[in-house]
Amino acid sequence: MRLKNCYKTADFRQLARQRLPGPVFHYIDGGADDETTLRRNTEAFDDFDLVPNVLAGVEDVDLGTEVLGRRIDFPLFFSPTAMQRLFHHDGEWAIADAAQELGTFFGVSTIGTRSIEELGARTSGPKLFQIYIHNDNALTADLIERCRESGFDALALTVDTVVAGNRERDYVTGFTTPPKLTPSSLLSFALHPRWTLNYLLRPGFDLPNVSRYIEAGSSVAASVMDYINSQMKVSISWDDAARMIEQWGGPFAVKGVMSVEDARRCVDIGATAIMVSNHGGRQLDGSRSPFDQLAAIVDAVGDEIEVILDGGIRRGTHVLKALAMGARACSGGRMYLYALAGAGSAGVSRAMTLLRDEIIRDMKLMGCSRLSELNRSMLARRP
Ligand code: LAC
Repeated sequence: MRLKNCYKTADFRQLARQRLPGPVFHYIDGGADDETTLRRNTEAFDDFDLVPNVLAGVEDVDLGTEVLGRRIDFPLFFSPTAMQRLFHHDGEWAIADAAQELGTFFGVSTIGTRSIEELGARTSGPKLFQIYIHNDNALTADLIERCRESGFDALALTVDTVVAGNRERDYVTGFTTPPKLTPSSLLSFALHPRWTLNYLLRPGFDLPNVSRYIEAGSSVAASVMDYINSQMKVSISWDDAARMIEQWGGPFAVKGVMSVEDARRCVDIGATAIMVSNHGGRQLDGSRSPFDQLAAIVDAVGDEIEVILDGGIRRGTHVLKALAMGARACSGGRMYLYALAGAGSAGVSRAMTLLRDEIIRDMKLMGCSRLSELNRSMLARRP
């Protein structure tokens, strides 16, 4: 597989599989337990068909909307994902640059590989910081202040990761950060010399947003599951979320909301947005997919809070279906991570431009020139 032959997410996935040592590929690709939810996140879109309107006289399509206090040109954004420099040395730069070029948000993970300050200086485009509540209160408070100083637009508090999902592929491959050579991973690193040389010769791996507080994951090898289970606060509550909203005082998303009751509580505590998400099927396997749950949430709170569908997006039509159902925008991780892993900045730019072009083409085929024209009459549930 070569970049110029990649058109769909599955192609970029194949490219990533060729380029990455097994443990790194499976960390991106895998989900929790039997990966039922991971599969369902995408399959759910097939339960509804688009019903286009023709002869609509559409010439230009405007994909603009407003999310978390910023106008964006494109209703699909980069979900925060961890460890990006391990997938490709371009790491977060590739994501920040592509987001700015497309005029959309990107998210930076608490356990990202470029610092809040570096990213704040790199781009004036829309950016959100994904925050985990750690056991160390000083770290959490520090992250919020650093985001403020570096001009981040919004915070997204992740609430579905109080313990790590059971990622069995990571047990099998022995995936850790920094990567550790084990008898089983050694061959895989040796067979991917380009990745391995880049890893060894480029600036050392670090989790700069947390490493002044925590050694695990930066100077001491740890699996992501161990990091989550040892460093993050298990007993987070609505009070923690409400306090953080007050502390931050700006646009705020709660990421990982699935129930209607929780969506309502997000409105009550004054959140700006919810990201309907199951963490890409990496946490509670068997949980409902965001698209399956979207209508119920939009019906309950869609007039009071921005509803973002996160996860499972592989095609422009998936975005159209979510928006027709009532989402404000969509976001995703693997949709750009395979491309990052496969070809760095050029890969991310190609994958996301292809998705944007798909959305524009599909809007024309649907007879819509603006996102606000998409509505539920354009969706039919399959018998
Ligand atoms: C993940 C976390 C860390 O691996 O976001 O899913």
